[in-house]
Amino acid sequence: MPSRFREKILTLKNSNKNLAGILSVDLFGLPANHNEIDRLAKEHGLWHVEDAAQGFGGKIDNNRACSFGDISTTSFFPAKPLGCYGDGGAIFTDNIDVAEHIKSLRVHGKGSHKYENVNIGYNSRLDTIQAAILLEKLKIFDKEVVKKNEIAAMYTSALEDVKGVIVPKIPPGYTSSWAQYTLRVDKREELMTYLKSQGIPTTVYYPKTMSQTKALASFLKYQIGELKNSTNFASSVLSLPMHAYLTDEEVGYIYSKISNFYN
Ligand SMILES: Cc1ncc(COP(=O)(O)O)c(C=O)c1O
Repeated sequence: MPSRFREKILTLKNSNKNLAGILSVDLFGLPANHNEIDRLAKEHGLWHVEDAAQGFGGKIDNNRACSFGDISTTSFFPAKPLGCYGDGGAIFTDNIDVAEHIKSLRVHGKGSHKYENVNIGYNSRLDTIQAAILLEKLKIFDKEVVKKNEIAAMYTSALEDVKGVIVPKIPPGYTSSWAQYTLRVDKREELMTYLKSQGIPTTVYYPKTMSQTKALASFLKYQIGELKNSTNFASSVLSLPMHAYLTDEEVGYIYSKISNFYN
């Protein structure tokens, strides 16, 4: 959690910018610092939405991702911690009025009867086949998270002392569901090419910061500061293979090839 977050909120509030809320994003399976963000949101009268697309299955102490903020959203896209075989997602809230409104929006803005439309809505129903897949996968989900934590621990202990590699750190009290296991590395492109030649696929999540995308160029006027950390990360992050069905041999093969590369 950036210690200067409160300072940024105050800067925006004191400018003429219309600050309404906070969208916090869980990344790679690790929840953001929601306790602190919830506190700041309340202190400044802002709404707080937790984007738990990548956080599902993560925890802060015993509180699960998707339980923070006023509303929380998640994704069941295949690359996510709980993935279906197509598209899907869910929204969580304790606010009955918000829940009713979202249910209406989900089905073309329906009212008490499906053809009595009271809102301009969407077709956002979860496909029945995807729901059936998710129900089955949900039964084994907690076991998969435990297994992924074992795999992450193997990667971390093998790679934490390798010069040129920075392993991901999980803060005390937090649990990650390891949507991705992401290193920061020197000589990224060379490492990727070498690993590919050894039959190991890797991916860059993400090569650009949001502020570097064309789509958000018109919002740059709202940016405060230079975003040095995220810009540095975009040029050094590399995600390794990570799923609950990797064998110890496969994990060993991957980390030994990375060690070989730097040694
Ligand atoms: C942090 C985050 N938010 C939102 C989304 C969007 O999810 P979906 O494509 O299911 O709408 C994604 C997926 O890429 C994500 O990683």
